[in-house]
Amino acid sequence: MTTQITPRARVCVLISGNGSNLQALIDACAKNEIAADIIHVISNRADAFGLQRAQQAKIPTSVLDHKAFADRAAFDDALADLIARCQPDWVVLAGFMRILTPAFVQRFLGKLINIHPALLPKHPGLNTHARALAAQDTEHGATVHFVTPTVDAGPAIIQGVLAITPAESVESLEARVHQLEHQIYPIALAALVAGDVHYAHGQAVWADSNTPKIICQPSA
Ligand code: GAR
Repeated sequence: MTTQITPRARVCVLISGNGSNLQALIDACAKNEIAADIIHVISNRADAFGLQRAQQAKIPTSVLDHKAFADRAAFDDALADLIARCQPDWVVLAGFMRILTPAFVQRFLGKLINIHPALLPKHPGLNTHARALAAQDTEHGATVHFVTPTVDAGPAIIQGVLAITPAESVESLEARVHQLEHQIYPIALAALVAGDVHYAHGQAVWADSNTPKIICQPSA
């Protein structure tokens, strides 16, 4: 009798900073909650703390400094080539603070995902927590989505939702959303790797329904 060994998915993670979402993914892979290995971590900043997290987990790292390239297209070409050499099944943006060119996105379309700290389509872009408070939103959260050429407009795979409390500050909201991100990103990647959800014709298609899964977190 032969034992079938299912190959683990190969994941390349792109970061620019702290890398707490990277850490959540490293931990979930180590616990086998995701049938994947993070095979490479790439940062556009040499001082990103996430690089140390990767090295601690014995994951190979690269730094590709965008400032060393003539323009965005040249940087994205080099980045895409570096990623392609790693032969990943999934490319995961985890606090990668660069706008990607349509050419880059097309190259990895359907296997390129991002996490954004808001309930898209609300609050694309930056300063999402302050904007949610300024808009007097009652709910806020985070979205994992497929990346498409328009920034923060790709189809949602999963959202984590929390209720904004009356005493909420930007800092408290940021901390609570971050916690939620660490829950939903591993769930989303596990579902992708397992084939429970895939990208088709601009949509995130779940095997059992077509709506993004919502995880509600009770207010603090
Ligand atoms: C996260 O909150 C992530 O949603 C956000 O950057 C933070 C990175 O934290 N990403 C974006 O805003 C992308 N537009 P981390 O480095 O601790 O994972």
